[in-house]
Amino acid sequence: MPQSYETLLLERRDKVAIITINRPDKRNALNIKTREEGAALIEELRTDDSVRAVIITGAGDKAFIAGADIAEFAGRTAMMQREVMTQRSLFNAIDTFPKPVIAMINGYCLGGGCELALACDIRIASENASFGQPEINLGIIPGGGGTQRLARLVGEGKAMEMILTGEIIDAKSALTIGLVNHVVPADQLESKTLEIANRIAEKGPIAVSLAKEAVKLASKSNLDEGLRREVDLFALVFSTEDKDEGVKAFLEKRKPAFKGR
Ligand code: COA
Repeated sequence: MPQSYETLLLERRDKVAIITINRPDKRNALNIKTREEGAALIEELRTDDSVRAVIITGAGDKAFIAGADIAEFAGRTAMMQREVMTQRSLFNAIDTFPKPVIAMINGYCLGGGCELALACDIRIASENASFGQPEINLGIIPGGGGTQRLARLVGEGKAMEMILTGEIIDAKSALTIGLVNHVVPADQLESKTLEIANRIAEKGPIAVSLAKEAVKLASKSNLDEGLRREVDLFALVFSTEDKDEGVKAFLEKRKPAFKGR
């Protein structure tokens, strides 16, 4: 029986699971409970073969996620904070999840919210979304991958400016610097995100998983190592029935029926 969650909602649309961070009164700020539940839910979906892609969004029309729950920072020691970021890392759970994860960004995407979006594979934003790493305004720095993933995605200069100034940028600017893949009107956000998720969900899941792993190597390894491991993953996918089916279907001029084997 699936677990129920206090801070999250889970909805299934065919092969796509939609996780909603459900703390709209707190602009979906990530408290410890949300991080723990998020990591547990991601783990639950990992072995659920009916789920081929995951969408993460925020409840309400104001925020995707407005960052870490600042109220929890008060009185927290350095060691406690270190434990939160390492032992219960929702961001790393998403990063290493073997299925695609798409951030559906419907409003404020700040601090830990921006870092969560950065840990996802694809980011789709509504026109009213805004982005920033405002930690510097609290006298702290990003600690959920912001300094690393943002710099890798948009380049060191843009990341440095966002992190050092704490400036909030709009969706159009986020698109310009490559922080998001698409910006759409708010009423089209869900359909656009589902369209992309469904398109991926139709592919062979093993190939999708290995492709994600290979692309992630681009920011985790040097070029030689990445190219070497890409060849290994490429060879590995040749061991699947889906590869035989994909090639056969092409030659027979029909749609492939992938089985995830
Ligand atoms: N942590 C904890 N609570 C938060 C929060 C956060 N990151 N972001 C918003 N909230 C809470 C507010 O404290 C407020 O709670 P209250 O109603 O109990 O007072 C509620 O959410 C609504 O926030 P409010 O500021 O009134 O909404 P808004 O729509 O006017 O502004 C933001 C939204 C996101 C611009 C503003 O809340 C904000 O700047 N949040 C902090 C962003 C941040 O610095 N994130 C990085 C954290 S490291």
